Amino acid sequence: MRIGLIGLGVMGWRIGANLAKAGRLHVVYNRTSVKAEQFSREYGVRNAESIQRLAEESDVILTVLADDVAVQEVVEGLLPKVKGRILVEMSTISPPLSIRLAEKVKGAGGVMYDAPLVGTSIMVEQKKLTVLVGGPEEGFQNLKELLSHTASAILYMGPNGMGLYAKLVNNLLIGAYVAAMAEAFNMGVRSGLDPEKVSEFLAKYSSARSPTSELKAPKMATRDYSTQFATRHMRKDLEIIDKEAQRLGVPIPMSALALQLYRMVEAIGLSEKDYSSIFEIYSKFTRSS
Ligand SMILES: NC(=O)c1ccc[n+]([C@@H]2O[C@H](COP(=O)([O-])OP(=O)(O)OC[C@H]3O[C@@H](n4cnc5c(N)ncnc54)[C@H](OP(=O)(O)O)[C@@H]3O)[C@@H](O)[C@H]2O)c1
Repeated sequence: MRIGLIGLGVMGWRIGANLAKAGRLHVVYNRTSVKAEQFSREYGVRNAESIQRLAEESDVILTVLADDVAVQEVVEGLLPKVKGRILVEMSTISPPLSIRLAEKVKGAGGVMYDAPLVGTSIMVEQKKLTVLVGGPEEGFQNLKELLSHTASAILYMGPNGMGLYAKLVNNLLIGAYVAAMAEAFNMGVRSGLDPEKVSEFLAKYSSARSPTSELKAPKMATRDYSTQFATRHMRKDLEIIDKEAQRLGVPIPMSALALQLYRMVEAIGLSEKDYSSIFEIYSKFTRSS
């Protein structure tokens, strides 16, 4: 089974590296071609000149792209070539868009899965991601084998779109959780606690500790906002949640507030930085004495 990968950003690069090291990756493509050239040199995997060319050389196509616009552009561009092929779409995008694209892929003779990722870049390197799969159940076992090069849990959530709805459940929670963590962290530091001690407490001993506090509390303590998950992606996910909540008629006061806060983080220039930089909003608006 020949595997092609489109999108060599933070996550795509590392997923590609895992597959290439296992000898499973055949061809890659990235919009900014220098990244694909570099990947090709480092891992000895062919760099395709277009997404259509990549499709011709693949039985399974993985896409790890930024957002709705990117995925729509790429999947529609692939339609003439998807017949008999499997498309595994791993980006976090709007579920209704993904469902529409899956129907188009089916109409063109292919099969599409939504398979969004839970976990950060570090977890890809450790092969500890969780992948939430939506799509036809038959064929899921084959997908599981392929994704096992990068994920420790691959969960079948239901028909097309259900992988993405499960992903929204996760990001609603971590979006609001990290905002609340920044609020708590800032109060702790302002009260005179040593930031390192607050970080250690939140990461290891707090009754609200989690894999997310383990990752993000040290980033707040050191104000090292090197990107694991960009603020703009968290804002994008909370915007998708906002839209879907309107459609479903569910109240989302916590994540709606978090969305406003992440917009403020972007407004102070931290859009590309890790979303734990939300701590800077609390720090900035704290009375100096
Ligand atoms: N980072 C995480 O921790 C994490 C965790 C879970 C889920 N996710 C989700 O996974 C997806 C990828 O995340 P990431 O962190 O890897 O993002 P990223 O570093 O921003 O990479 C985005 C990729 O999409 C490509 N792209 C953007 N717009 C495009 C377009 N119009 N046409 C074609 N390609 C386009 C980019 O190509 P260029 O190189 O040309 O810009 C790049 O390869 C996102 O949906 C994100 O929400 C991320």
